Amino acid sequence: MIARARALLARLLGRSSANPAQAGWSATDRYICEQLLSRDPAADLALGASDAAGLPPIAVSANQGKLLELLVRIQGAHRILELGTLGGYSTIWLARGLPAGGKLVTLEASPEFAEVARGNIAAAGLAEVVELRVGPALQTLPELAGEAPFDLIFLDADKVNYTSYMEWSLKLSRPGTLIIADNVVGAGAIVESHGPDPWGEVGGVQGVRRLYEMLSAEPRLSATAIQTVGEKGYDGFALGLVTAEV
Ligand code: SAH
Ligand code: DHB
Ligand code: MG
Repeated sequence: MIARARALLARLLGRSSANPAQAGWSATDRYICEQLLSRDPAADLALGASDAAGLPPIAVSANQGKLLELLVRIQGAHRILELGTLGGYSTIWLARGLPAGGKLVTLEASPEFAEVARGNIAAAGLAEVVELRVGPALQTLPELAGEAPFDLIFLDADKVNYTSYMEWSLKLSRPGTLIIADNVVGAGAIVESHGPDPWGEVGGVQGVRRLYEMLSAEPRLSATAIQTVGEKGYDGFALGLVTAEV
Protein backbone atom coordinates (compact mmCIF):
# COMPACT_ATOMS: atom_id res chain seq x y z
CA MET A 1 0.00 0.00 0.00
CA ILE A 2 2.81 2.38 0.93
CA ALA A 3 4.60 1.45 -2.29
CA ARG A 4 1.43 2.20 -4.25
CA ALA A 5 1.00 5.55 -2.54
CA ARG A 6 4.63 6.41 -3.27
CA ALA A 7 4.22 5.41 -6.91
CA LEU A 8 1.12 7.57 -7.15
CA LEU A 9 3.01 10.48 -5.61
CA ALA A 10 5.82 10.04 -8.11
CA ARG A 11 3.34 10.10 -10.97
CA LEU A 12 1.73 13.23 -9.60
CA LEU A 13 5.08 14.93 -9.23
CA GLY A 14 6.07 13.81 -12.69
CA ARG A 15 3.22 15.07 -14.70
CA SER A 16 0.24 16.70 -13.03
CA SER A 17 -0.68 20.10 -11.69
CA ALA A 18 1.14 19.05 -8.49
CA ASN A 19 4.25 19.84 -10.50
CA PRO A 20 4.31 23.61 -11.04
CA ALA A 21 6.23 23.19 -14.30
CA GLN A 22 3.68 20.81 -15.84
CA ALA A 23 1.17 23.43 -17.03
CA GLY A 24 3.89 25.20 -19.00
CA TRP A 25 5.23 21.95 -20.46
CA SER A 26 1.71 20.98 -21.58
CA ALA A 27 0.92 24.40 -23.06
CA THR A 28 4.21 24.41 -24.95
CA ASP A 29 3.61 20.88 -26.22
CA ARG A 30 0.17 21.99 -27.44
CA TYR A 31 1.72 25.00 -29.18
CA ILE A 32 4.36 22.84 -30.91
CA CYS A 33 1.71 20.33 -32.03
CA GLU A 34 -0.58 23.08 -33.31
CA GLN A 35 2.26 24.67 -35.27
CA LEU A 36 4.02 21.60 -36.63
CA LEU A 37 1.70 18.58 -36.61
CA SER A 38 -1.19 18.50 -39.03
CA ARG A 39 -4.66 17.47 -37.96
CA ASP A 40 -4.49 13.75 -37.38
CA PRO A 41 -7.83 11.92 -37.34
CA ALA A 42 -6.26 8.43 -37.45
CA ALA A 43 -4.06 9.04 -34.42
CA ASP A 44 -6.88 10.80 -32.54
CA LEU A 45 -9.18 7.89 -33.30
CA ALA A 46 -6.60 5.41 -31.98
CA LEU A 47 -6.25 7.34 -28.72
CA GLY A 48 -10.03 7.71 -28.37
CA ALA A 49 -10.64 3.99 -28.91
CA SER A 50 -7.82 3.08 -26.51
CA ASP A 51 -9.33 5.34 -23.88
CA ALA A 52 -12.83 3.98 -24.44
CA ALA A 53 -11.49 0.43 -24.05
CA GLY A 54 -9.97 1.38 -20.69
CA LEU A 55 -6.32 1.19 -21.71
CA PRO A 56 -3.96 3.22 -19.49
CA PRO A 57 -3.03 6.66 -20.95
CA ILE A 58 0.65 5.80 -21.30
CA ALA A 59 1.22 5.99 -25.05
CA VAL A 60 3.90 8.37 -26.30
CA SER A 61 2.69 11.94 -26.86
CA ALA A 62 1.78 13.16 -30.35
CA ASN A 63 4.95 15.17 -30.46
CA GLN A 64 7.05 12.14 -29.51
CA GLY A 65 5.16 10.06 -32.07
CA LYS A 66 6.16 12.54 -34.76
CA LEU A 67 9.75 12.31 -33.55
CA LEU A 68 9.59 8.52 -33.93
CA GLU A 69 8.21 8.91 -37.46
CA LEU A 70 11.04 11.28 -38.36
CA LEU A 71 13.66 8.95 -36.88
CA VAL A 72 12.27 6.13 -39.04
CA ARG A 73 12.66 8.36 -42.10
CA ILE A 74 16.10 9.68 -41.15
CA GLN A 75 17.18 6.09 -40.63
CA GLY A 76 15.68 5.06 -43.98
CA ALA A 77 14.22 2.09 -42.12
CA HIS A 78 12.36 -0.60 -44.05
CA ARG A 79 11.96 -3.04 -41.18
CA ILE A 80 10.93 -1.98 -37.67
CA LEU A 81 10.52 -3.96 -34.46
CA GLU A 82 8.49 -2.58 -31.55
CA LEU A 83 8.17 -4.05 -28.05
CA GLY A 84 5.05 -2.91 -26.16
CA THR A 85 2.15 -2.13 -28.52
CA LEU A 86 -0.54 -1.02 -26.03
CA GLY A 87 -3.28 0.41 -28.31
CA GLY A 88 -0.97 0.80 -31.30
CA TYR A 89 -0.48 4.56 -31.05
CA SER A 90 3.33 4.58 -31.31
CA THR A 91 2.98 1.72 -33.81
CA ILE A 92 0.95 3.96 -36.12
CA TRP A 93 3.50 6.79 -35.94
CA LEU A 94 6.44 4.43 -36.57
CA ALA A 95 4.68 2.67 -39.46
CA ARG A 96 3.89 6.01 -41.10
CA GLY A 97 7.61 6.66 -41.54
CA LEU A 98 8.05 3.48 -43.59
CA PRO A 99 8.39 3.51 -47.37
CA ALA A 100 6.10 1.38 -49.56
CA GLY A 101 6.86 -2.28 -48.93
CA GLY A 102 8.13 -1.56 -45.40
CA LYS A 103 7.18 -3.79 -42.49
CA LEU A 104 6.70 -3.37 -38.75
CA VAL A 105 6.51 -6.20 -36.22
CA THR A 106 5.07 -5.23 -32.83
CA LEU A 107 4.99 -7.39 -29.70
CA GLU A 108 2.33 -7.13 -26.98
CA ALA A 109 1.81 -9.34 -23.91
CA SER A 110 -1.83 -8.49 -23.29
CA PRO A 111 -4.39 -10.10 -25.63
CA GLU A 112 -6.93 -7.44 -24.60
CA PHE A 113 -4.62 -4.55 -25.48
CA ALA A 114 -3.61 -6.32 -28.69
CA GLU A 115 -7.26 -6.56 -29.73
CA VAL A 116 -7.68 -2.81 -29.33
CA ALA A 117 -4.42 -2.20 -31.19
CA ARG A 118 -5.50 -4.43 -34.06
CA GLY A 119 -8.63 -2.30 -34.54
CA ASN A 120 -6.66 0.95 -34.35
CA ILE A 121 -4.00 -0.25 -36.79
CA ALA A 122 -6.64 -1.39 -39.27
CA ALA A 123 -8.56 1.89 -38.93
CA ALA A 124 -5.33 3.75 -39.70
CA GLY A 125 -5.01 1.72 -42.92
CA LEU A 126 -1.87 -0.07 -41.72
CA ALA A 127 -3.11 -3.66 -41.35
CA GLU A 128 -0.94 -4.80 -44.27
CA VAL A 129 2.18 -3.12 -42.91
CA VAL A 130 1.97 -4.11 -39.24
CA GLU A 131 2.27 -7.61 -37.85
CA LEU A 132 1.14 -7.88 -34.23
CA ARG A 133 2.42 -10.82 -32.19
CA VAL A 134 0.73 -11.51 -28.88
CA GLY A 135 2.59 -12.92 -25.87
CA PRO A 136 5.37 -11.96 -23.47
CA ALA A 137 8.15 -10.51 -25.60
CA LEU A 138 10.73 -12.92 -24.19
CA GLN A 139 8.63 -15.71 -25.74
CA THR A 140 7.95 -14.06 -29.09
CA LEU A 141 11.42 -12.56 -29.69
CA PRO A 142 13.11 -15.95 -30.36
CA GLU A 143 10.63 -16.49 -33.22
CA LEU A 144 11.82 -13.40 -35.09
CA ALA A 145 15.17 -14.59 -36.44
CA GLY A 146 13.61 -15.03 -39.89
CA GLU A 147 12.45 -11.39 -39.94
CA ALA A 148 15.83 -9.93 -38.95
CA PRO A 149 17.76 -7.75 -39.31
CA PHE A 150 15.60 -4.82 -38.28
CA ASP A 151 16.70 -1.28 -39.18
CA LEU A 152 15.05 0.36 -36.17
CA ILE A 153 13.87 -1.11 -32.86
CA PHE A 154 11.65 0.67 -30.30
CA LEU A 155 11.73 -0.71 -26.75
CA ASP A 156 8.65 0.28 -24.76
CA ALA A 157 7.46 -2.87 -22.93
CA ASP A 158 8.13 -3.72 -19.25
CA LYS A 159 11.20 -1.92 -17.97
CA VAL A 160 12.45 -4.79 -15.75
CA ASN A 161 13.36 -6.73 -18.87
CA TYR A 162 15.02 -3.87 -20.78
CA THR A 163 18.51 -5.47 -20.70
CA SER A 164 17.15 -8.76 -22.04
CA TYR A 165 15.30 -6.81 -24.72
CA MET A 166 18.52 -5.00 -25.59
CA GLU A 167 20.37 -8.32 -25.89
CA TRP A 168 17.65 -9.61 -28.22
CA SER A 169 17.70 -6.35 -30.13
CA LEU A 170 21.42 -6.74 -30.79
CA LYS A 171 20.82 -10.29 -32.06
CA LEU A 172 18.15 -8.98 -34.42
CA SER A 173 20.23 -6.00 -35.64
CA ARG A 174 22.83 -5.14 -38.27
CA PRO A 175 25.56 -2.50 -38.09
CA GLY A 176 23.64 0.76 -38.46
CA THR A 177 20.46 -0.36 -36.67
CA LEU A 178 19.00 2.33 -34.41
CA ILE A 179 17.63 1.13 -31.06
CA ILE A 180 15.39 3.53 -29.15
CA ALA A 181 14.20 2.94 -25.58
CA ASP A 182 11.36 4.91 -23.98
CA ASN A 183 11.11 5.83 -20.30
CA VAL A 184 14.77 6.06 -19.41
CA VAL A 185 14.40 9.02 -17.01
CA GLY A 186 11.14 8.56 -15.09
CA ALA A 187 10.92 12.13 -13.77
CA GLY A 188 14.48 11.77 -12.50
CA ALA A 189 13.75 8.58 -10.54
CA ILE A 190 16.64 6.80 -12.24
CA VAL A 191 19.20 8.86 -10.31
CA GLU A 192 17.57 8.01 -6.99
CA SER A 193 18.29 4.30 -6.83
CA HIS A 194 15.95 3.82 -3.86
CA GLY A 195 13.19 6.13 -5.09
CA PRO A 196 9.63 5.14 -5.96
CA ASP A 197 8.83 3.51 -9.28
CA PRO A 198 7.45 6.02 -11.77
CA TRP A 199 5.85 3.63 -14.30
CA GLY A 200 3.62 1.63 -11.97
CA GLU A 201 6.04 -1.25 -12.38
CA VAL A 202 7.94 -2.70 -9.43
CA GLY A 203 11.63 -2.89 -10.30
CA GLY A 204 11.27 -0.62 -13.33
CA VAL A 205 13.87 1.89 -12.16
CA GLN A 206 16.42 -0.85 -11.46
CA GLY A 207 15.66 -2.31 -14.89
CA VAL A 208 16.37 1.00 -16.59
CA ARG A 209 19.53 1.52 -14.51
CA ARG A 210 20.77 -1.91 -15.63
CA LEU A 211 20.12 -0.77 -19.21
CA TYR A 212 22.42 2.24 -18.69
CA GLU A 213 25.12 -0.07 -17.27
CA MET A 214 24.76 -2.33 -20.27
CA LEU A 215 24.90 0.58 -22.72
CA SER A 216 28.04 1.94 -21.07
CA ALA A 217 29.76 -1.45 -21.27
CA GLU A 218 28.54 -2.55 -24.72
CA PRO A 219 31.23 -1.95 -27.36
CA ARG A 220 28.84 -2.63 -30.25
CA LEU A 221 26.63 0.34 -29.37
CA SER A 222 27.16 4.08 -29.38
CA ALA A 223 24.47 5.53 -27.14
CA THR A 224 23.08 8.57 -25.42
CA ALA A 225 19.82 9.57 -23.77
CA ILE A 226 17.77 12.74 -23.95
CA GLN A 227 15.44 14.03 -21.26
CA THR A 228 11.98 14.99 -22.48
CA VAL A 229 9.25 17.19 -20.97
CA GLY A 230 5.79 17.82 -22.33
CA GLU A 231 2.19 16.73 -22.13
CA LYS A 232 3.27 13.36 -20.68
CA GLY A 233 5.44 14.81 -17.93
CA TYR A 234 9.18 14.35 -17.57
CA ASP A 235 10.89 11.26 -18.99
CA GLY A 236 13.39 10.41 -21.72
CA PHE A 237 14.46 8.42 -24.74
CA ALA A 238 17.72 6.48 -25.06
CA LEU A 239 19.19 6.10 -28.54
CA GLY A 240 21.74 3.45 -29.36
CA LEU A 241 23.36 2.99 -32.74
CA VAL A 242 24.75 -0.45 -33.55
CA THR A 243 28.28 0.32 -34.68
CA ALA A 244 29.84 -3.10 -35.13
CA GLU A 245 29.02 -6.56 -36.44
CA VAL A 246 26.53 -8.27 -34.11
N1 SAH B 1 4.35 1.84 -27.20
C1 SAH B 1 3.03 2.20 -26.70
C2 SAH B 1 2.99 2.18 -25.18
C3 SAH B 1 3.43 0.90 -24.57
S1 SAH B 1 3.00 0.79 -22.85
C4 SAH B 1 2.68 3.60 -27.21
O1 SAH B 1 3.50 4.51 -27.01
O2 SAH B 1 1.62 3.78 -27.80
C5 SAH B 1 3.80 -0.71 -22.43
C6 SAH B 1 3.16 -1.93 -23.06
O3 SAH B 1 4.03 -3.03 -22.83
C7 SAH B 1 1.81 -2.31 -22.44
O4 SAH B 1 0.86 -2.45 -23.44
C8 SAH B 1 2.08 -3.66 -21.78
O5 SAH B 1 0.99 -4.57 -21.82
C9 SAH B 1 3.23 -4.16 -22.62
N2 SAH B 1 4.04 -5.20 -21.95
C10 SAH B 1 4.32 -5.30 -20.63
N3 SAH B 1 5.07 -6.38 -20.39
C11 SAH B 1 5.28 -6.97 -21.60
C12 SAH B 1 5.97 -8.13 -22.02
N4 SAH B 1 6.61 -8.92 -21.15
N5 SAH B 1 5.96 -8.44 -23.34
C13 SAH B 1 5.32 -7.65 -24.24
N6 SAH B 1 4.65 -6.56 -23.88
C14 SAH B 1 4.62 -6.21 -22.59
C1 DHB C 1 4.16 4.55 -18.20
C2 DHB C 1 4.62 5.30 -19.28
C3 DHB C 1 5.18 4.66 -20.36
O1 DHB C 1 5.66 5.35 -21.44
C4 DHB C 1 5.29 3.28 -20.38
O2 DHB C 1 5.86 2.71 -21.46
C5 DHB C 1 4.82 2.52 -19.32
C6 DHB C 1 4.25 3.15 -18.22
C7 DHB C 1 3.56 5.26 -17.03
O3 DHB C 1 3.63 6.48 -17.02
O4 DHB C 1 3.03 4.59 -16.14
MG1 MG D 1 6.72 4.18 -22.75
